[in-house]
Amino acid sequence: MIYFDNNATTPPCPEALEAASAALRDCFGNPSSAHAAGRKAKKLLAESREKTASLIGARPDEIVFTGSGSEADHLAILGTWETAVRWNSKKKRIVVTGIEHPAVRKTVKKLEEAGVDVAWVPPAAGGRVSAEAVGEALTLDTLLVTVILAQNETGVIQPVKDITARAHACGAYVHTDAVQALGKIPVNVDDLGVDMLSLAAHKFHGPKGVGALYVRTGTRLGAIALGGGQEHGLRPGTENLAGIAALAAALEAATKTLARDTPRIRALRDRVAEGTLKAFPAARWNGDREHLLPNTASLSFPRLRADMLLLALDVDGICVATGSACHSGALEPSEILKAMGLDDEAARSSLRISLSRFTTEAEVARYLEVLPALLQRVVRKA
Ligand SMILES: Cc1ncc(COP(=O)(O)O)c(C=O)c1O
Repeated sequence: MIYFDNNATTPPCPEALEAASAALRDCFGNPSSAHAAGRKAKKLLAESREKTASLIGARPDEIVFTGSGSEADHLAILGTWETAVRWNSKKKRIVVTGIEHPAVRKTVKKLEEAGVDVAWVPPAAGGRVSAEAVGEALTLDTLLVTVILAQNETGVIQPVKDITARAHACGAYVHTDAVQALGKIPVNVDDLGVDMLSLAAHKFHGPKGVGALYVRTGTRLGAIALGGGQEHGLRPGTENLAGIAALAAALEAATKTLARDTPRIRALRDRVAEGTLKAFPAARWNGDREHLLPNTASLSFPRLRADMLLLALDVDGICVATGSACHSGALEPSEILKAMGLDDEAARSSLRISLSRFTTEAEVARYLEVLPALLQRVVRKA
């Protein structure tokens, strides 16, 4: 199998597998227990927190482990909003981009439906939101700006640092969903200046079902779920210690080789994308190539059904993603590509190819070898 769908999820790396199995085997205690088994688990939890924090330039007490990237997004948005309401804050507005992952988009939408003043900032044609456009949406009563760091479908990197400077000038908090950025580009919370940042282990070769929210010291954030006092009282529930240890190990492994891996991944991605454009000259690369994750290419194939292409590739053992969701057998155009100004047909005919540091030259060569005949077959059926 050739796996070119690493923005959906990644295979766990050896370091994550080792950390998870060592934790499951040797550290079964509850970190909240006072006895030796509990203390051992607590120590591993603290070490994993320290490692995770240091890899993004944070302090250990600023890391809240969660059950997923989605949960980290919910906690950041709902936790900030509900706390502001409780404190009778005068700040009543949320600014969000039109290219967020559903975990952010739907959470903000829910608040909007409940009467919260929300400004949605659309991207430019290249899939990048401009800091100026966010600046225009900001008011002195803006509580929170939430902006994705790297878009999951297109891979376009957003100007979060510039947005943060403008938002802070209005006294607003900034949350960034960095789920797709971690392990693919350098991420440092002080460099970005953000107050909250979400991440998910399974996007950087860690396990599924574990994520984290970075919360800058001084940010007014309350829990959105009730229970025990774990994770500084912000996320109740006995910690997923094996997942957390594996998250830290995976992030460390990805960070260690990032500078070395990036040019190789970018070159392979470019070969895949350019080879695809050559095999199907009407195809178009979606997204601003100047600001792109090194592993991602979103390509539209006019007049072709992306799901047919995906299935044909799957038959040849190659896994990719469509940008569109399939509802009751009908392909919905991608919301993200539509927000970038693509028409329904182009937004319905997109494929996302996403590589990783484990992608090999041989896999890329095999893809490029099977592609022309496969495209012919799909074109004939269209
Ligand atoms: C940008 C972004 N945010 C959030 C998520 C959600 O992460 P999780 O699957 O861990 O809930 C994803 C996953 O696809 C994502 O790409």
